[in-house]
Amino acid sequence: MIFNSFSQKLSLFLLLSAFLLLIACDKDQHNHPNLLTGKDFFNSHCAGCHNNDGTGLFLKGAPANISTNKNISELIRYIKEGDQHGHSKMPVFKTMSDKEANKIAHYLLVLKSDYFNNPENNHSFLLKRRNQKKQTAHQ
Ligand code: HEC
Repeated sequence: MIFNSFSQKLSLFLLLSAFLLLIACDKDQHNHPNLLTGKDFFNSHCAGCHNNDGTGLFLKGAPANISTNKNISELIRYIKEGDQHGHSKMPVFKTMSDKEANKIAHYLLVLKSDYFNNPENNHSFLLKRRNQKKQTAHQ
């Protein structure tokens, strides 16, 4: 009887840990030797919500992250620690290395300048969002 309940507890424990492991590995998993460039990292960790070009995916509720005003070090912090008030709806990449976050941040700013330097893009909607953000930041 005792053994029986012990094994039940054990299997419950194993099941739970497998489940937690699954969640933990969902996005913040960085054992990927095949990924090398900022683009690789971005496409693997960010594009699922923000699109390959950083213009965002409406259905995921993710904004165009190329509209950010953050600089490299602010971006790295945002990726690894979330926003300073802790109410960002974006997942935090706690176990990402600084090197990887740095490459992603640089790549994001490349996407941003590519986007805004291309006259074919109708980026009024991104600029609008940027200005709204600026205004609320000053309030
Ligand atoms: C699960 C979806 C999801 C993933 C994955 C994701 N984001 Fe986000 N991201 C969001 C959402 C939602 C917001 C809006 C956050 C808010 O306003 O609270 C956001 C906002 C941002 C912003 C805007 C911050 C600002 O105000 O300037 C940046 C920059 C950003 N994400 C970069 C990234 C990068 C880089 C990655 C990959 C490492 C990434 N995101 C992965 C959902 C995601």
